[in-house]
Amino acid sequence: MIPHSKPTLDQRDYNAVLRVLQSGQISQGEYVKRFEANLYEFIGVKGGVATNSGTSALHLALLALEVGKGDEIILPSYVCTALLNAINYVEATPILVGIEPDSFNLDAKRVKESLTEKTKAIIVPHLFGLPADMEELLSFGIPLIEDCAQALGATYKGKQAGSFGTLSIFSFYATKVIASGEGGMVLSDSPHLLERVRDLRDYDNRDDYKIRFNYKMTDLQAALGISQMERLPSFLERRRYIAKRYSTELANTPALLPTGYPGKEHIFYRYVIRVEGDLERLLEQIKEEGICCDRPVYRPLHHYLGLSDFPETDRMWGSALSIPIYPSLTSDEVTEVIRGVKGVLEGGG
Ligand SMILES: Cc1ncc(COP(=O)(O)O)c(C=O)c1O
Repeated sequence: MIPHSKPTLDQRDYNAVLRVLQSGQISQGEYVKRFEANLYEFIGVKGGVATNSGTSALHLALLALEVGKGDEIILPSYVCTALLNAINYVEATPILVGIEPDSFNLDAKRVKESLTEKTKAIIVPHLFGLPADMEELLSFGIPLIEDCAQALGATYKGKQAGSFGTLSIFSFYATKVIASGEGGMVLSDSPHLLERVRDLRDYDNRDDYKIRFNYKMTDLQAALGISQMERLPSFLERRRYIAKRYSTELANTPALLPTGYPGKEHIFYRYVIRVEGDLERLLEQIKEEGICCDRPVYRPLHHYLGLSDFPETDRMWGSALSIPIYPSLTSDEVTEVIRGVKGVLEGGG
């Protein structure tokens, strides 16, 4: 069975973690600082603070912006519940907005209609590795938190995703673009905001008391992150190569394939096609061919909140099918995925 996603690990990763383990210094230390520097220098911003997950990074980003009760935070409905959780942690009000009819990203035009004097920030995921419409979103003058959990290495008009927002966050969960098992990071150009995030990340040895968190990353995770970061260019190249094969070899199927957008470089964290018919049945049939595909977003957020009137999101959710894509997918496996998916799609489901 070809899994839907999988980390890409090799001897260099094992050695990196082993070195830390043997050093006896396994909690947050020098490796975490080095990993932070690797990431913020790569993205091209002034600083970064590592955390134990993308969700905790989002939580601290909201706290750094002093978001609290009564504040409204805009986010797309078509995204995982981590974003909704972070907003609820700080007791702010989530304002769900629909996605573009073709790209799966936040629809900037709808964002504009949802702005009020209570809007404190907009969380902008670059979903599946495709940058959102940053120029239009930045034009609103509201702080943006770029959610780059799926978009490390993607570029918008030649600049790295994660270098546009007031803050940006990343996730290094096992199957993300690079993996540290669990892990996250907050990046920003603002020393002041980064200092707040750093202050809130751990609680010990302080002269004052306020609610702080234990959101620290360990050196074990950071060593893995550093090792993976070194291979990021080859990871991205491999993802693009696989995506190109899918785009060429699935071109004549009834599915709608991802398209290119000027000025946006997609990293294909997910290769998501859109299909007609019963999605569950198609997923089942493809599984019978030995290939795990999936819904790339389990359920849109408005379903959980009992809201309706998100027709674009429902349409996209009901037709989006994510095909295995990760650097460790072999060329033979890619051929196998194409054979299986094509066969099912051409058989009409
Ligand atoms: C877009 C997006 N944001 C945030 C997160 C949360 O990251 P984590 O799982 O590291 O908490 C995820 C995780 O899947 C994600 O896909």
